[in-house]
Amino acid sequence: MTIEAALPQPFNSAHFVDPHRAYARLREEGPVHQVALPDGTPIWLVLREADVRAWLTDDRLSVNKAKSGNGYKGFSLPPALDANLLNIDPADHLRLRRLVSKTFTPRRVEALRDGVQAAADGLADVLARCMETNGAADLVSQFANPLPLVVIGDLLGVPEQDRKPFSDWVTTMFDPQGREDMANAVDSIHHYLVELIEQRRHEPDDRLLSALIAVRDEGDTLTEDELVSLAFLILFAGSESTQHVISGGLLTLLEHPRQLGALREYPALLPDAVEEILRYAHPNQMAIRRFPTEDIVIGGTRIPAGDTVMLCPASAHRDPQRYPEPDRFDIHRTDKSHLALGYGVHYCLGAPLARLEIQTALGTLLRRFPKLSLGVPADQLRWRPSFRSHVVKELPITAG
Ligand code: HEM
Repeated sequence: MTIEAALPQPFNSAHFVDPHRAYARLREEGPVHQVALPDGTPIWLVLREADVRAWLTDDRLSVNKAKSGNGYKGFSLPPALDANLLNIDPADHLRLRRLVSKTFTPRRVEALRDGVQAAADGLADVLARCMETNGAADLVSQFANPLPLVVIGDLLGVPEQDRKPFSDWVTTMFDPQGREDMANAVDSIHHYLVELIEQRRHEPDDRLLSALIAVRDEGDTLTEDELVSLAFLILFAGSESTQHVISGGLLTLLEHPRQLGALREYPALLPDAVEEILRYAHPNQMAIRRFPTEDIVIGGTRIPAGDTVMLCPASAHRDPQRYPEPDRFDIHRTDKSHLALGYGVHYCLGAPLARLEIQTALGTLLRRFPKLSLGVPADQLRWRPSFRSHVVKELPITAG
């Protein structure tokens, strides 16, 4: 029997519905656990807030798979999508991040506010019509999914009709019916981006992708794989998590009517409510993967160089050593810091945009639908069967 086969595999169907129960049990047993992912990949799971925060800024943890000692065999993208910020250590990381950081500064993002609001209003019209005709609408497919796609698609220069197919491939990539299904989705994403880049090379526009193509073609600061990977990362990261925070955020508010009432009464609480949603309902469970470049000790556990470490902010956010009553959703919390958008050099590039979109989305929904309710009992909601993200597949809502 291999060591891997003997490892516990905590990511079962109960975990997909309520990961926090499993994290709480594991955290009580110890701060770090060696477990297997569903595909058998052995990982070290780091659960406590102090450890996750400290190790996010420790350069003995690399993001580069090449630092994996025994040849990392877990989830991987082909090199033409993988050469992105999330998998590159300094100094190459800084070179690439500089190319896109100006587009996402708080000032540049603030200039997008009216456009984001107009997109949210348009989608709220769609929801209203659907609720009027059918009695219910699906917040995920009719609002939370399209909103960030419109915003990041416009910014990058992705034609409107291509956004939904891209998003469907990403969903299949994370929730495939089988290995072949996943490989086909990854292939489709890759081919699509290569074609789009070729098209923009011949017919440039004034959007970010054309600007990056110009950087690539005018100098030697960007390889072709890096260009495709950067386009992939921005389109994928700019739409995937944001939609899940919008739907998970609304679900959390509907499940906490007193907090929702307070927010309806004092809309100025919205930014605080969004920070608490990011802490309490953070959708990304197993997204922060690192490889130690030397033997290290986390929480008293020795981890050999080259093993796979997963830093788990979703667990850190429920750590009672860090947050009083961590399982209580409370938009009045005075301590608003969290790790949902990362920390350190890989801190989320799109953090100001994510906040603007989530605040606009939830603010619009609450203003527009004063009696918004869940269309099915919460225990009938279907969750994505994934250890990577805790997200609802659909969120039926009614106008009350
Ligand atoms: C609520 C929504 C979002 C969440 C929860 C989120 C979360 C994160 C986290 C945790 C990281 C760091 C990962 C790591 O350290 O391994 C990250 C990085 C990143 N995010 Fe976001 N993100 C969100 C929205 C966005 C948006 C709207 C964009 C748009 C551009 C974006 C672009 C990026 C990029 C490019 C990186 C890589 C940064 C780097 O490695 O330097 N994200 N995000």
